[in-house]
Amino acid sequence: MATQKKLIHEQWSSRTAFILAATGSAVGLGNIWKFPYITGENGGGTFVLIYLCCVALIGIPIMIAEIMLGRRGKQSPINTMAALAREEGRHPGWKYLGWMGVIAGFLILSYYSVIAGWALAYVFRTGSGLFLGATADGVNSIFNDFVGDPEKLLLWHTLFMVMTMVVVARGVKNGLETAVTFLMPMLFVLLLVVVIYAMSTGYFYQGLEFLFTPGKITGKAILIAMGHAFFTLSLGMGAIMVYGSYLTKDHSIVQASIVIALADTLVALLAGMAIFPVVFANGLQPGAGPGLIFQTLPIAFGHMPGGTLVGVMFFTLLVFAAWTSAISLIEPAVAWLVENRGHSRVYASVVMGIMTWLVGLGTIFSFNIWKDVTWSIPFLFKNYRFFDTLDYLTANIMLPLGGLFIALFAGWIMHKTSSSDELATTAGIYKTWRFLVRYVAPVAVIIVFLKAVGAV
Ligand code: PHE
Repeated sequence: MATQKKLIHEQWSSRTAFILAATGSAVGLGNIWKFPYITGENGGGTFVLIYLCCVALIGIPIMIAEIMLGRRGKQSPINTMAALAREEGRHPGWKYLGWMGVIAGFLILSYYSVIAGWALAYVFRTGSGLFLGATADGVNSIFNDFVGDPEKLLLWHTLFMVMTMVVVARGVKNGLETAVTFLMPMLFVLLLVVVIYAMSTGYFYQGLEFLFTPGKITGKAILIAMGHAFFTLSLGMGAIMVYGSYLTKDHSIVQASIVIALADTLVALLAGMAIFPVVFANGLQPGAGPGLIFQTLPIAFGHMPGGTLVGVMFFTLLVFAAWTSAISLIEPAVAWLVENRGHSRVYASVVMGIMTWLVGLGTIFSFNIWKDVTWSIPFLFKNYRFFDTLDYLTANIMLPLGGLFIALFAGWIMHKTSSSDELATTAGIYKTWRFLVRYVAPVAVIIVFLKAVGAV
């Protein structure tokens, strides 16, 4: 039976609040900015198919495991892992899994905030009519001038970090819950508007074809697809675990996980359907890289009727999506500072925010003064800048590794009685989950790792 634990943090006020918050964490830049550009870079259909398989076979079982561990531990991922290891009579070293997560979240947020800053800037740029009648070259040079100016990027990065700190400092109910209850439904509506526009371009079918027609694939692309499944579902670093720790006992974890994963996948596919038709309608390149949505969509916004309004809505949507994810990236660290150092939430949020902001400078400079500073690691990557390196290390290595250990802990280390007590589901569902989390997910992650370094 679960032991009674003293609650340090607040709890979600309802199951809906938890689902909204976790969906808010999952749906972010990953769905709207990253998914389209990595799909474009990695050839489309096959990449999407592998990503979908990873979500179903690895993502959902690990999400169930992560929420379960969080709810049983009731604390930040570091202390949750320590407490659960103790409770199960296992090695205390499992707490380092929590540490890896906190570090991964911190590193991800450092660049996440810079990109979210681009989105913030583009709300105003689109709103000012800057892109009205612009050509592809014009939009391209506007984007290049923008990312080439470290001061501008710094301003928007700072603003976004302040927005994040304010919400996190206000706490679970007043901050996190209020923000997501308002932002998530709005986000769905705004995305649908852009998809409806995409349908009117006459290139909707080409967009679908690109997203769903299989082609060639490389080992590295498979790793990127799997890493993205973790990234987009917010798995492997404790964000979902810490949200699970604010969840009360009487709700079904399995059901919630499926709803969250479906909503996240739907948003990514809708984003693809919103973006690729516009890309093809304007003769643009799907493989344009991190600038894809910023270099391509403004052309469309500059030419379509009501484009200024649709453009402003689109980038606002992106900011909202990023905001509700950013708060979950920093929450594990903030919760830990509150638990172990006795700091107030406000102090903990500000300290973590400033540290993250500082590391973010590296990403800012990657697009301008450090543009040519690159390095390579054999078998892993070639000529990566600071930003690419952080993105690669966190999304493709740290998150899958964290997820692997979460699966191993939930499937092999934790006693069966504990996990079945916590999940409280039917025998059939429990058995299926346990099989996926013990065998399928760990083996899949290991195979993809080996394939990416060319070992198999
Ligand atoms: N899931 C978020 C996105 O898709 C990013 C994220 C990753 C958030 C890991 C929390 C933890 O943008």
